[in-house]
Amino acid sequence: PKCVLAYSGGLDTSVILVWLIEKGFDVICYCANVGQLKEDFDKVREKALKCGASKVYIEDLREEFVKDYVFWAVKANAQYEGRYLLGTSLARPVIAKRQVEIAQKEGAKWLSHGATGKGNDQVRFELCAQALDAAIQTLAPWRETEFIERFKGRQDLLDYAAAHNIQVEATKKASYSVDENLYHTSYESGMLEDPMVPPLKEMFKMTVDPEDAPDKAEKVRIDFEEGVPVKVTNHDDGTVKTEPLELFLYLNELAGKHGVGRIDIVENRFVGIKSRGVYETPGGQILRVAHMDLEGLCVDREVLRLKEGHQLEFSRLCYNGFWFAPEMELTKASIDFTQRRVAGGVELSLYKGNVTVLGRESPYSLYSADLASMEIEGGGAAFDYVPMDAQGFIRINAVRLRAYNALERTFNK
Ligand code: ARG
Ligand code: SIN
Repeated sequence: PKCVLAYSGGLDTSVILVWLIEKGFDVICYCANVGQLKEDFDKVREKALKCGASKVYIEDLREEFVKDYVFWAVKANAQYEGRYLLGTSLARPVIAKRQVEIAQKEGAKWLSHGATGKGNDQVRFELCAQALDAAIQTLAPWRETEFIERFKGRQDLLDYAAAHNIQVEATKKASYSVDENLYHTSYESGMLEDPMVPPLKEMFKMTVDPEDAPDKAEKVRIDFEEGVPVKVTNHDDGTVKTEPLELFLYLNELAGKHGVGRIDIVENRFVGIKSRGVYETPGGQILRVAHMDLEGLCVDREVLRLKEGHQLEFSRLCYNGFWFAPEMELTKASIDFTQRRVAGGVELSLYKGNVTVLGRESPYSLYSADLASMEIEGGGAAFDYVPMDAQGFIRINAVRLRAYNALERTFNK
């Protein structure tokens, strides 16, 4: 039978590839380019074929990933458990979607991946696959007794690789696991499993240590339309970017140079396990700060309050792998409604790990300087807000508070 394997070219998936062939599968390797740094896709292709893959697909999904996933995260101010910007979670559906399409094209009834049986990724890949084609099954070797018993540790993988002519990059022992795409890089497991052990300085790929960032702040302007960035301008050197992918990569570069977007957390996996993760999401962090700021200017208070619920829902669904779920469609539709008039520009300053908003403007601004001013009594918008009315507003809002606290005082004596 034919099987489409999500292949990275690394040790694990190379062993899986050969093992699947041993099991009698005709294995088609699929490697998604979601913007992982310095990946040599020609080498990945060559290695897959050498290991016995019958065919190799290298698919450039970067544009789609930015437009249909990363920009959704921007509109939703997506964040899991208050800190994680969801870089791995967001990439899974775009990768899984193409994997299913390849399987359909090749007439393959099986998919395979190298995710472990203890993590989120297995759930995400497989929920997406089942949603998109119920007839395709997934074989996850890291959940197969025979596989797990054979490969108890890295040494077993290395021995198998040696015995099957799988070339292994310089045998330096990886002391943590990395997942990369253009939105973020994540580091977990290995030495990072001790939540008290700090990440290594040389580990980070997208950002410099804020301590080593330039001593001079750098300014950037981001323009949005319907909640999505459409233009990035650096007035100092005249750089202007308007293409989604280019624009995002440029923000990564700027933020990376200033050490913006690192976090180190213990999070809760969907399967119930706590896990320590270190992440860098440079461009995403700038966009988050800018976008939230613009919403403050253009979105009504009550819409913003309700949107907070949708944002939490979006983030949770994305983390748990429910990208192709009806509740996700509902959530996205609600969020889209709130973004109709989120347009305008935000000026920011980047400095040693921080993003600071310097100013914002919008053709849809709901802000009125006349209304807000402490100095203007009466004047332009005077008839919209009569300060004397505030006295009654406060007294009536206090009706409950007076009653409740009077009672409390009686019983707490
Ligand atoms: N804990 C993060 C998440 O669940 C990152 C997972 C990293 N995945 C990986 N295969 N290394 O989204
Ligand atoms: C894995 O289990 O393969 C990586 C971690 C995760 O998916 O949560």
